[in-house]
Amino acid sequence: MKKVVITGGSGLLGPSVIEEFINSGYKVLNVDHKLPDNPICETIIADLTNLGEAYDVLVGADAVVHLAAIPRAYMAPTDVTFQNNTMATFNILEAAGNLGIKKAVITSSESIYGIVFSKSGLTPQYVPIDEEHPTLPEDSYGLSKIVNEKTAKMIHNRTGMQVVSLRIGNVIAAPHMYKNFPGFIDNPKERIAILWSYIDARDAAIAYRLAVEKNELGTAVLNIAADNSSMNIKSTDLMKEAFPGVTDFREPLTGYETLLSNKKAKEILDWKPIYNWRDEVKKL
Ligand SMILES: NC(=O)c1ccc[n+]([C@@H]2O[C@H](COP(=O)([O-])OP(=O)(O)OC[C@H]3O[C@@H](n4cnc5c(N)ncnc54)[C@H](O)[C@@H]3O)[C@@H](O)[C@H]2O)c1
Repeated sequence: MKKVVITGGSGLLGPSVIEEFINSGYKVLNVDHKLPDNPICETIIADLTNLGEAYDVLVGADAVVHLAAIPRAYMAPTDVTFQNNTMATFNILEAAGNLGIKKAVITSSESIYGIVFSKSGLTPQYVPIDEEHPTLPEDSYGLSKIVNEKTAKMIHNRTGMQVVSLRIGNVIAAPHMYKNFPGFIDNPKERIAILWSYIDARDAAIAYRLAVEKNELGTAVLNIAADNSSMNIKSTDLMKEAFPGVTDFREPLTGYETLLSNKKAKEILDWKPIYNWRDEVKKL
């Protein structure tokens, strides 16, 4: 049985990723600062900003999936966010590469484009935002994700380890987070900064597994978002209301299409999001 180490598995996204790997026949070790609420695998408590601890937890792993981070800007002092997120990623990749582990997936973010936590009113240059869109963060969280993607390249160049960076959109863990949807879906002023995108944690989890299972991906960087927006308003109407100055539409938008492009992930991973907020809200 292949063993995968999942870091940050005690957080919001982690339980779905752990479950996906366990259900697909992997032995999973969770590594986190804290214990999970509902453990379904072994957990080691570690601080991954310490290189020795990163080496220790990775011994014997076939792959590593790195989720551990302070997950948004301004929830901790800026230097703490930058230091934690860049050093934990550096240590995990440095240790994995040197231990001869062949596959890693790290967690980047849609925040890398800079719009999510912008204080200057940054707008998209075009939509849907794809992986070629400029990355212009104004915060240490977004910057940490840029550094982490560079760290991935550095380790790959030296060791050949496959390191896929998943630029995750706003994570929705079912079922409880779907309860919030009726409160915002008709208000275009809500969720503007994330371009109204979302990703069900279970769909993100499948993308992590596929990124481990596929070969020859090098240092692929992939947006991970649902096919539709999280809103009950058409995407062109959302854009007109919130970003009237943005006129460069790179895909035909006729309905509720995502404005965070997931095209590349679908092509490269053979991945297709399954869960849709409209169905999930009906189930509540
Ligand atoms: N939640 C979202 O909407 C979202 C969107 C885009 C990207 N992301 C990214 O997804 C990943 C997971 O986010 P989440 O929402 O589950 O966050 P979370 O805070 O719920 O979980 C992160 C976990 O990482 C652990 N952790 C942090 N630093 C650590 C360290 N130095 N050593 C060991 N453990 C450490 C925390 O204890 C926590 O359990 C993060 O990398 C985040 O940046 C999240």
